[in-house]
Amino acid sequence: MEAKGKGTRVVIIGTGFVGSSYAYALLNQGVIDEMVLVDLNKEKAEGDAMDLNHGMPFGSPMRIWAGTYQDCSEADLVVITAGANQGPGETRLDLIEKNAKIFRTIVGSVMDNGFNGIFLVATNPVDILSYATWKFSGLPMEKVIGSGTILDTARFRFLLGQYFDVDSRNVHAYIMGEHGDTELPIWSHADIAGKPILTYVDEDNHVNMNELDTIFTNVRDAAYHIIDRKGATYYGIAMGLVRLTKAILRNENSVLTISTLLRGQYGLDDVYIGVPAIVNRQGIREVLELNLSEEEQKKLHHSASVLKEAMKPVHD
Ligand code: 2OP
Repeated sequence: MEAKGKGTRVVIIGTGFVGSSYAYALLNQGVIDEMVLVDLNKEKAEGDAMDLNHGMPFGSPMRIWAGTYQDCSEADLVVITAGANQGPGETRLDLIEKNAKIFRTIVGSVMDNGFNGIFLVATNPVDILSYATWKFSGLPMEKVIGSGTILDTARFRFLLGQYFDVDSRNVHAYIMGEHGDTELPIWSHADIAGKPILTYVDEDNHVNMNELDTIFTNVRDAAYHIIDRKGATYYGIAMGLVRLTKAILRNENSVLTISTLLRGQYGLDDVYIGVPAIVNRQGIREVLELNLSEEEQKKLHHSASVLKEAMKPVHD
């Protein structure tokens, strides 16, 4: 265990594709002071720490080492990316039993070392495992955040940006619900620089709803398309996790679609699910409750019921 210096410490549990891509992206952004890599395969974590450290003269200084759960005692943020990931043809929900078991051990080990910071969960199925982390840790819900639909929302904005030939940063559109097969696009609140996307459908024959539906299907199925081609996805989610890390540690009050516990919002209760929320140093400051269309509300409820059903192994 290393004594903490001044500044912020992030511990990454799991240095597979997602964990190590996140570490690399985080090093490049220079937003933290200490990065600890923890993996069952200690040699992998050590190798990653060496490799990342060798890039330090090209970036900004920070301390990086392969550590243990003891390093969590003084962590500001613990990011969990460990666990089994989807093989070709597997859904995210297929991973529940395996990963819920792994999470009991991980979260228990982090908490046994007196952790009192914020958890950021990225392992799939992320909504279920965020709920599990909240339950297993006993921390207040605002301190347990799942990456939720942050990546799906980014994919949506990217593809809409391509379609309309506009910078995706000027596209405001959310994917809500499960990070998985029952997620939904919120067309009723999708706009480009303030102009609702649905008005383009009405005004311009070049934009039709079928094409927009295909964009959403490509968002929903993006992970399958990538996994078929290269076996895993990691760069996009790594950048999403860095975005969340900044929102948290720099107290940015950013609106991001993450997985959080709903307590009455959208008529839903006791489920972690992807919604837009304001994220800052306390974690989740506030869930934003959009005025959804009837169809969107129905789809969100369907997505929540699928998650609740899938959650049963966590309660057992
Ligand atoms: C993704 O959406 C597999 O959840 C991962 O890229």
